[in-house]
Amino acid sequence: MKLLAVTTTVATMMLAIACGSSNESKEATTASTTTVDLSSNPDYQKGLELVSKSDCLTCHKIEEKLTGPAYKEIAQKYAGADTAVAYLSKKIITGGSGVWGTIPMTPHPQISQADAEAMAKYVLLLK
Ligand code: HEC
Repeated sequence: MKLLAVTTTVATMMLAIACGSSNESKEATTASTTTVDLSSNPDYQKGLELVSKSDCLTCHKIEEKLTGPAYKEIAQKYAGADTAVAYLSKKIITGGSGVWGTIPMTPHPQISQADAEAMAKYVLLLK
């Protein structure tokens, strides 16, 4: 019996590296452009993280007024005031109105004093 069953199985070779994984890299949208590069500032990073995790950005934007004043305007208003962190952190926790208008800011009693201070420092950097 002639056996010419030369089984040159090439098939396996076809299993080439055809698995292109689709890794779409989503770019995290961070704060808009400010003239100073703040991204390496630890106060900025910490505050940004906290503010993004909380509800702040439903009422505040950096450059524009929304329900609440723009962070940039807040930063400008309190620039140089050494009581600003203490004052603003308290306001973040207790809320209130009357400084920027009649619309009140909701209180945030669940935010710790330390976190509120970190948020206040972040806002103050945005001038
Ligand atoms: C429901 C909408 C709303 C939310 C949510 C909110 N704010 Fe406000 N925020 C306001 C309003 C309105 C004012 C202006 C209050 C005033 O006129 O006294 C304000 C004022 C501020 C001020 C300036 C306070 C002053 O006395 O000048 C800071 C700082 C601030 N908000 C930070 C934050 C942070 C941080 C968060 C998230 C933890 C936050 N806000 C969440 C509406 C909001």
